[in-house]
Amino acid sequence: MSSLFSPLTIKSVTMRNRIGVAPMCQYQARDGVAQAWHQTHIGSLAMGGAGLIIMEATAVRADGRITPYCLGLWDQAQVAAVSSIVKFANQQGARMGVQLAHAGRKGSSARPWLGGAHLKAEEGGWDTIAPSHNAFDSDGTRLWKTPRAMTQDDINDIQQCFADAAQRALQAGFEFIEIHGAHGYLLHSFLSPLVNQRNDQYGGKLENRARMLMETVAKVRQVWPEDLPLGVRLSMTDWVEGGLTLDDTIQVSAWLKAAGVDIVDCSTGGATPESRGSINGGIAQQPAMAGKARRQTGIMTMAVGEITAAQQAQDIINQEEADMVLLARQLLRDPYWPRHAAKELGADVPALMPDLHKLFIGKNP
Ligand SMILES: Cc1cc2nc3c(=O)[nH]c(=O)nc-3n(C[C@H](O)[C@H](O)[C@H](O)COP(=O)(O)O)c2cc1C
Repeated sequence: MSSLFSPLTIKSVTMRNRIGVAPMCQYQARDGVAQAWHQTHIGSLAMGGAGLIIMEATAVRADGRITPYCLGLWDQAQVAAVSSIVKFANQQGARMGVQLAHAGRKGSSARPWLGGAHLKAEEGGWDTIAPSHNAFDSDGTRLWKTPRAMTQDDINDIQQCFADAAQRALQAGFEFIEIHGAHGYLLHSFLSPLVNQRNDQYGGKLENRARMLMETVAKVRQVWPEDLPLGVRLSMTDWVEGGLTLDDTIQVSAWLKAAGVDIVDCSTGGATPESRGSINGGIAQQPAMAGKARRQTGIMTMAVGEITAAQQAQDIINQEEADMVLLARQLLRDPYWPRHAAKELGADVPALMPDLHKLFIGKNP
């Protein structure tokens, strides 16, 4: 039996295989509301055979979007639009997760193909917030706006927004929440010493820098049913001197496990323009980091980063680097990748259209 196609149960949720779709911004929402694009995109991934689909970074508040075209879960219109997408995916046998996020100082930006820089108010942008009063590119190109440093009230508000969005995710039918603690967005920017320059209880030593994430997790865990899985995406390293290290994030993973987090999705980078996993092949090193965190803390992990081949994915599961593999770009290229991988690995997967299969395929007309 193929280990990649063995089911995985976390709490009350069983995934049909170990293949997950990594969260991927689509930049197609209107006022945070999912569109026909999302129905088609997620629908095809569900038909393609993935066990779990994690919907793109979904903002817990309007100013938490990366761009004006990102999804949100701060109102009921957004819940309604996403519910039918979740239902369709479930009917195809995929379990649905959502990545809840606040973009922090990397919010209010243009879509990547339009340069990705900060949008001014007259361009549809907004003022940003962050742990400290320093822009994403403080030393560089000055394309980014300087955020306002958050007060304790801001911190409380944002944590409440995560909890409220988690309740809306439940209403929409999602069975898995991934809290976005990576890529330089708000929660990672608290964790990273490259960004966080606070001198209160949210800054300084790792335990303090992790406080924002840990309190947010606790708020979400309070409203997210005990029998449903909760995950966190971390940037396991900042890649640059003076930033977060793998040892730091393994410690954070242990704290998350103790706080009731079921799985850590192991990504890297994004805190500053220099802090990029794409430099020097860093992204491909991420699955090994998932393995180290898994072995040292006992928490389940998701491995992600340049996974493109069936045997490569299966090896990650066999070598117990991770409980699931997540694919992003390869599943954009080919949403039916899991079906091709099943064929290659000799795994049995149900026909896409069982009745039609019986009627036509394998029979001469
Ligand atoms: C189009 C696109 C959008 C992405 N959006 C998100 C996102 O919303 N949240 C996130 O954490 N990562 C996002 N990522 C990163 C992916 O989830 C993934 O970690 C990364 O692409 C590496 O995986 P890959 O080598 O399989 O593509 C995005 C990547 C791509 C290509």
